Amino acid sequence: MQIIDGKKIADEIKAEIKEEVSRMLEKGQRAPHLAAILVGHDGGSETYVANKVKSCEQAGFQSTLIRYEDDVTGEELLQRVHQLNNDASIDGFIVQLPLPKHIDEQKIIEAISPDKDVDGFHPANVGRMAIGLPCFVSATPAGIIELLRRYRIDTRGKHCVVLGRSNIVGKPVSLLMAQKATPGDATVTICHSRTANIADITRQADIIIAALGQPEFLTADMVKEGVVVIDVGTTRVPSAETKSGWKLKGDVKFDEVAPKSSYITPVPGGVGPMTIVSLLRNTLQAAKTTVKS
Ligand code: GUN
Repeated sequence: MQIIDGKKIADEIKAEIKEEVSRMLEKGQRAPHLAAILVGHDGGSETYVANKVKSCEQAGFQSTLIRYEDDVTGEELLQRVHQLNNDASIDGFIVQLPLPKHIDEQKIIEAISPDKDVDGFHPANVGRMAIGLPCFVSATPAGIIELLRRYRIDTRGKHCVVLGRSNIVGKPVSLLMAQKATPGDATVTICHSRTANIADITRQADIIIAALGQPEFLTADMVKEGVVVIDVGTTRVPSAETKSGWKLKGDVKFDEVAPKSSYITPVPGGVGPMTIVSLLRNTLQAAKTTVKS
């Protein structure tokens, strides 16, 4: 069994990105610039956005954090999105999800210019990804594919079972795993909350990507020997062991599934760090697609 070290790979990629930023600066170009809109004070979102901003700094990017209180209106957010779309000093931006219930999330996503949608959530980017055209691929699926690539995990002809059908992870990663590419070329089954006999399906899997947000859902009896397990879950559960009073739990019962696996990602330190570097890569790509000085 080998633990897939997402932190190590993410650090390597961050160093590569930093190199590239140095070369841009040497050529007289400015550093890539990512902006993030954060609404409210949800602990998870605060942590994610803080990590994104910190990673930008580590990679030599410029970053701008734009904060709103929970009572911001959809109209105010739309105006800000339009302003960022038209701001030539911003290469890409994200609106951290979830947004408060009174705001139409989809409307906000669709207002983002696809050229600056470094989260890859706009239907134009999702559609382009689905048919294999150049696009911004959303950060978590792109991070998973990169982990499989860097660990040279064979996916061709393998049965990949994806648990979860979210727009952010389950659906896009299923398409990427099935596409004619390396990594890719897998036979993909998507399971979700209405799937019957889910354990019968996971037991047939060569690769399992667990992205359903149910802590420790995948247990040892649900997997075959030698399975590759990618755990996307990041649920905060109360814990007496930590100062914060909570810890992150994945969708996989790690201690019992790991011994049966050939490769497995831990939580934290697996997919999470890769998500952020995917966002940096997309922002770098956005910065490079228009010549800027
Ligand atoms: N909420 C959970 N994951 C993400 C993400 O990748 N991007 C944004 N914008 N919000 C999220």
